Amino acid sequence: MPEEGFTTTKTLFRQGEHSVERTYEENSNVITEESSYSKTSDQLSSGLLGWYSVCSSSLLKDGELNFFSMFNEPLVLYRDKEGRVRCVKDLCPHRGASFQGGALKEGDIICPYHGGRFSSDGNCTNLERLTCSHIIDSNYNNYAKRIHLYQYPCVEKQGYIYIYYTGKAKTDIKDFEIKSSLENLVPETFGFDTSEYSYEEVCVDFKCDWSRIIENHLDILHIFWIHGNTIPDKDVNREAITSFNQKIKRDEKHIESKYNHKDKEKGEFITVKFIPPGRICIYKGTPETARYIQILDHIPLAQNRARVIVRHYRKFLRNKVLTSLFLFKQLQHRIFYRIFSEDYLVLKTQTYNEQMGFIKKDKIKLLGEDKAIQYYWDWYKASDLKDTPWQLNPTSSNTNSVYKDMPMIYPPENMSLMEQNNRSILINLVIRALVPIGFIILLI
Ligand code: FES
Ligand SMILES: [Fe+2]
Repeated sequence: MPEEGFTTTKTLFRQGEHSVERTYEENSNVITEESSYSKTSDQLSSGLLGWYSVCSSSLLKDGELNFFSMFNEPLVLYRDKEGRVRCVKDLCPHRGASFQGGALKEGDIICPYHGGRFSSDGNCTNLERLTCSHIIDSNYNNYAKRIHLYQYPCVEKQGYIYIYYTGKAKTDIKDFEIKSSLENLVPETFGFDTSEYSYEEVCVDFKCDWSRIIENHLDILHIFWIHGNTIPDKDVNREAITSFNQKIKRDEKHIESKYNHKDKEKGEFITVKFIPPGRICIYKGTPETARYIQILDHIPLAQNRARVIVRHYRKFLRNKVLTSLFLFKQLQHRIFYRIFSEDYLVLKTQTYNEQMGFIKKDKIKLLGEDKAIQYYWDWYKASDLKDTPWQLNPTSSNTNSVYKDMPMIYPPENMSLMEQNNRSILINLVIRALVPIGFIILLI
């Protein structure tokens, strides 16, 4: 038996002079947790909570409820009457039903259970339907006030829908204290002018761990092997054994890794920039001269469920007629889907949450060129322990499976989007072949 007042302190994480410690007290759960993870110039100031791009604007149609989740918390995105984006917890404040099966009428969300209707700011506009007003008592006003949607701040910018995620939805948006700047994520902040580019994009939902996908996109070595036959770059293939000089820049806003070929004649290979919590930006050259920018957004939907939005900006082939004639969009999508399928082969085997734990230096070899990955894991570990995002909305075997069965945009298992895109390529090729033949027949 422990003595009265017995406490024990355990160091959970230590990196250099930074540590996170928990103190346990007799017969109680964790009582204190202290992090000495202080901000210095080479540490990222944002943690796992904050601004995420969760959906591209084109996927959120008027009149539709778009169900998704963040760190296991079920949420809904939709547009109100004015077309403004709203992000609310998928939980009716009346009796806790999901809005799945509900409706959107003139921008108001309607619960499928008793028909509760909620305006854009989250107020219930038909309380009489929910409260049997003839039997109300003195608590009516208090009760009525509590029937209010739980929401998160939401911004639409440059064709992305961003939400400010804290794990604690609030009834009044004004009560959020916004601690990180959305501007930090925007390519313009790094010197790009996205208006000079055209872009293609795809959105994919994976059944795998979120943190591993980011790791995958920070790992340049794998592209020579697993994507060696897919990436349309003569320097990227299975035969190439290339070594790089890597320059890493770390500051409060990002981890930037610039790879230059050791063979000086070849010059720069790529620059990869991780902008927490979920964005990666890839380009070559300087922001002013880059011919392309790839923006990859990673959204932690739930344990072993993650979404990726990839947008490929390009300065070349911007003529709409030509790009449509050459099926540029579909061919670009085909490459994206093939790359995703190749990555998924590996990602689905790397389930950090239940089996693998964090990368430990002694278990997995991180070499010089993987340093950016190590910095990323250091950031992830520190933030995971400090902000505990996965513990804010925990799931258990009793969690309602309606959320687990939520439709995913592109479950890679069935390859539906890839097949759809391939069909579109085939149909368009047939049409392009038939038009001149038909023309010749007419002339004859
Ligand atoms: S649970 Fe939604 S209106 Fe009753
Ligand atoms: Fe990959």
